[in-house]
Amino acid sequence: MNSQEIIEKEQQYFLNAYNRFPVVFARGEGVRLFDIEGNEYLDLMAGIAVNLLGYGYHPLIEAIKEEVDRLLHTSNLYYNVPQVELAERLVKQSGFSRVFLVNSGAEANEVACKMARFYGRKKHGKRYKFVSFYRSFHGRTLLTLGLTGQEKFHHHLEPFPEGIRHAHLNDLESLRSVLDDEVCGIIVEPIQGEGGIYPCERSFLQSLRALCDEQDFILIFDEVQCGMGRTGRFFAFEHFGVRPDIVTLAKGLGGGLPIGAVLVSEEIAGLTERGEHGSTFGGNPICARSACVVVDTVSNGDFLRAVQRKGELFTKYLRDLQQEFSSMVSDIRGAGLMVGLEAPGRAKMLAQKMFEKKVLVNACNDDTVRFLPPLVIGEEDLRMGIDVLREVLREMEK
Ligand SMILES: Cc1ncc(COP(=O)(O)O)c(C=O)c1O
Repeated sequence: MNSQEIIEKEQQYFLNAYNRFPVVFARGEGVRLFDIEGNEYLDLMAGIAVNLLGYGYHPLIEAIKEEVDRLLHTSNLYYNVPQVELAERLVKQSGFSRVFLVNSGAEANEVACKMARFYGRKKHGKRYKFVSFYRSFHGRTLLTLGLTGQEKFHHHLEPFPEGIRHAHLNDLESLRSVLDDEVCGIIVEPIQGEGGIYPCERSFLQSLRALCDEQDFILIFDEVQCGMGRTGRFFAFEHFGVRPDIVTLAKGLGGGLPIGAVLVSEEIAGLTERGEHGSTFGGNPICARSACVVVDTVSNGDFLRAVQRKGELFTKYLRDLQQEFSSMVSDIRGAGLMVGLEAPGRAKMLAQKMFEKKVLVNACNDDTVRFLPPLVIGEEDLRMGIDVLREVLREMEK
């Protein structure tokens, strides 16, 4: 079958859910993807912050193959080795007390909120509400959609679970105005991803931490997109000098396989009883083995310093473009290799034209183009992406 036939079949059989670019990928190598006709694409999206180590990264592939030969699945009625090895790595890396393994970002956030609610109910009785922020994205289940602070994801789905309030990011007054003594937890992305790459201000996160300590609210950081070395630190929160009570990971954790994690402080770890939560696939041996390799690779200091250096270089290139095309590009935001370019009203066309030139980027909305390249990308490939972006901006300027 050729691409066109596959696309037609998708349109016939698949639920009408995705807006896809018209390409069928067959294979990846390094930071390049190849479609089934053999055309080559430079990937600056990494499967939306998933393929941290690019494609075909030998140690990762070998570890997965070995695990496939050993054991596909056991359920959590029994123990398995990779799951426990991953939990140990994550605890040692983070300084958190315990880990729960899940299958996706939405599920990780569901678990984090359940933990905050256990805390609110078991310790304070009546506390059950959640506060999140406008422009956030936390997932596609009904709770995580309710938390997601973007109207466009809410259409035809209300009502969401009761007790969710939204505040403006980096605005303490707005936050205070939605707090009361029934709030159990506050969830925030240290750097908002889907909403358009908006970082929290350091002082805001520090005040948020102080407020949560004062009022005994559980502070949850959703690092599903900005964690796992994406910003040049293993956790994004390391940039802010603030530790949450719970942090969620997914996306890049498995390096391409579906796995997420919820890391919790000692106080929260002590709250749950056996049987109070579960997941059939969570911590599946194949995914957990893959995640062990990713954690070992990404937690290396040299690896993280390289991400920082490449991020700074890429941001500098983008800022040069902002100067050159100041009538179209109004801002560059982000950290490490999580960068957004603000091009009001033009983001979708920019992403489309980049695609036509075989460079993969994504428009989060009408205004922001998002770059999330594999963390192993080289400087030359970043440069190449910038050259294509410049070409596209020139065409659009005419
Ligand atoms: C910050 C954040 N949280 C949660 C999610 C949901 O993750 P998943 O699609 O794996 O459920 C996403 C996905 O884009 C995300 O960016």
